[in-house]
Amino acid sequence: MAPIKEKKSFKLTAATGNQDGAGTDANVYVTFEDEEGRRTKEKKLDKLLYNDLEKGKKDKYDINAPVEFGAVKKLHVHRDSTGLGDSWFCDYFEIKDLRFKGNNNEPSPTKKEYYYFPIHRWISSQHRYEFDEYGTCLPQADPCIGPRKADLEAKKSSYNYVYRIGAMAATDTTDACVGHCAQVETLPADEKFSEDYYWNFATDKLKLLAETKWMEWTNQTKWNSLSDLRSVYKKSLGEPKCLDVWREDWWFGLQRLQGVNPVIIELCTQIPDNLAVTDTTVEGLMDDLTLNEALENKKIFICDLKIMDGLCCKENRELAAPLALFYLNKENKLLPIALQLKQEKGDDNPVFTPKDSKNTWLVAKMFYNNSEAQHHQALTHLGYTHLLMEGVVVCTHRNLSPSHPLFKLMAPHFLFLLAINSRGLEKLVSEGGWVDCCMTQGLCGILDLMKRGFEAWTYTKFGSVSAELEARGVLNKDVLPYYPYRDDALPLFAEIRKYVKTIVEHHYDNEDKMKEDWELKSWREELAKQRSENGVGLADIPGSKEDGFNSVDEVVDVVTMIISTCSLGHAASNFQQYEQYGYVPNYPGILMSTLPKEKKEYTEEEIMQILPDKRMTLDIMVITKLLSTKGTQSLGDFEMQYLYDPVGVQAAKDFRKNLDRLSKKNKLENVDRQWDFDWLDPEFVPNAISV
Ligand SMILES: [Fe+2]
Repeated sequence: MAPIKEKKSFKLTAATGNQDGAGTDANVYVTFEDEEGRRTKEKKLDKLLYNDLEKGKKDKYDINAPVEFGAVKKLHVHRDSTGLGDSWFCDYFEIKDLRFKGNNNEPSPTKKEYYYFPIHRWISSQHRYEFDEYGTCLPQADPCIGPRKADLEAKKSSYNYVYRIGAMAATDTTDACVGHCAQVETLPADEKFSEDYYWNFATDKLKLLAETKWMEWTNQTKWNSLSDLRSVYKKSLGEPKCLDVWREDWWFGLQRLQGVNPVIIELCTQIPDNLAVTDTTVEGLMDDLTLNEALENKKIFICDLKIMDGLCCKENRELAAPLALFYLNKENKLLPIALQLKQEKGDDNPVFTPKDSKNTWLVAKMFYNNSEAQHHQALTHLGYTHLLMEGVVVCTHRNLSPSHPLFKLMAPHFLFLLAINSRGLEKLVSEGGWVDCCMTQGLCGILDLMKRGFEAWTYTKFGSVSAELEARGVLNKDVLPYYPYRDDALPLFAEIRKYVKTIVEHHYDNEDKMKEDWELKSWREELAKQRSENGVGLADIPGSKEDGFNSVDEVVDVVTMIISTCSLGHAASNFQQYEQYGYVPNYPGILMSTLPKEKKEYTEEEIMQILPDKRMTLDIMVITKLLSTKGTQSLGDFEMQYLYDPVGVQAAKDFRKNLDRLSKKNKLENVDRQWDFDWLDPEFVPNAISV
């Protein structure tokens, strides 16, 4: 038989991951296959006098092919177990077709110049792998199902759930753990590549501290006056914009609409029985309307932080569980009209109003904000984004193969999350950590509050931006015309959904494909399964254990909720932290006294006594500055690409284009706003929870 004629036809790039142990000493063999089933000769990826396939490296190899070889359709990969470190994490293969003549008029034997095979997994010596171009397929269509199943089994032993937060011992199986959300037991080796990112982040704190240059600050003396306190911002970390306005009532209203926790305000349809407010209390504060008229006209709004009631906190401190009433005036400004700091009516629980003396009212507002700040950190920020999504990330690794389209769709939004949670939150939410020192709730309070919050979380309520707004009665623009958080969050959520829908519907172009997808079914089941049964415990996830999701739309909705939480949800609650908390009186994470039991007059000196000392102020400033730093790219501009198929690539392109348009629109709208709000401008929203 005449020898098959071959010629140098391709340049193969093999990219090795950045994980610990990703590089290999084993011999790796690759074969290409075309659409007619023709194969190249097996190629050993070995260059003379060179250490191939080392961690983080991209190595190039020449590949010969029979002259009649067509377009590359499949890649066959296997390795032996030579050497001490034989394991290999392959990120991707890229193939350049050297026969491609370009888009000029010259006839080209092939239509494409590049082929992508994203792999994103450990290649075991136990299997022979076969990958389709783009490496994206549902399990029922995977030509290489054995290794796929084995890979998921291995993931199940490295991505284990544990139901504790930060400081709680891994072995703690007592009642204290029940109700906490699912976390990863130990940071899997695969996630460790992101540690470099984290450590850069941690050293930034030291740099920031050095920049402040106020070593004289690091003592425990109090500030002499508010002007003494505000004078330090200019020469250090920058002045939060609220410095001149933080005492104003309209500002207190704006904090509810575009502050760091803009998801508390609700339309009030009747005054709660436990709020001791009558017409007399608020007389003169509502454009001559009676309370009933204002309620009927939907002009009354409320923030009810009953979830804070009875929460434990640091010694000698007291947390409010406040009810705050607001009136929407004729200029559509939301103004506070009454504040009751505890839930139960009583002589020692006065209702404060703007009619009280200036500092009495100011201190009441500070205690309200102090309580809301605890809620913000425990739930809106850490609990409902960082921690809730950690369980989702673990569940995804355990149930969806890296070949699964949903894995590839969500993976860019999970970047750094496990590392930042395992390493970063450990410092914040631990005994003696930042929350324990610099927040009124301390460690015991935040753990308790998170637990309450996770019990209250349901998909029905928090599964979409509009459902959450509707539940608070503030979805409708006619009811609450000025609400920047809502006005920016809704279109951004819609763009995310559109992008998700394109990709999900492409892969499940009929419902049978979805029904036959056993990875999707087990992913759904574990997301919904109760925490006491080793699940993530997301209440109300649509579908059932028996049948999985009922429709493709439900899959779109759940994936949208996840991507939105990792991007929009986190951005809304994270990046404004320095602006709000940085100047402590504006949004005090901690106050050094118990709640006022009567309408006491306060001198400025007495207010300074309630505020933290210089050392703690510095800690609050530095940490919130650090947490407000954006270190990653904008939504849609992915740090790591997983989807290479034409539909995925086009969807991502459209997504970026639409977000760009939205960003321009946001910038225009911002001009007319009562106060700047660009935290949900897609340009400033990162892909993932990475800080
Ligand atoms: Fe964060």
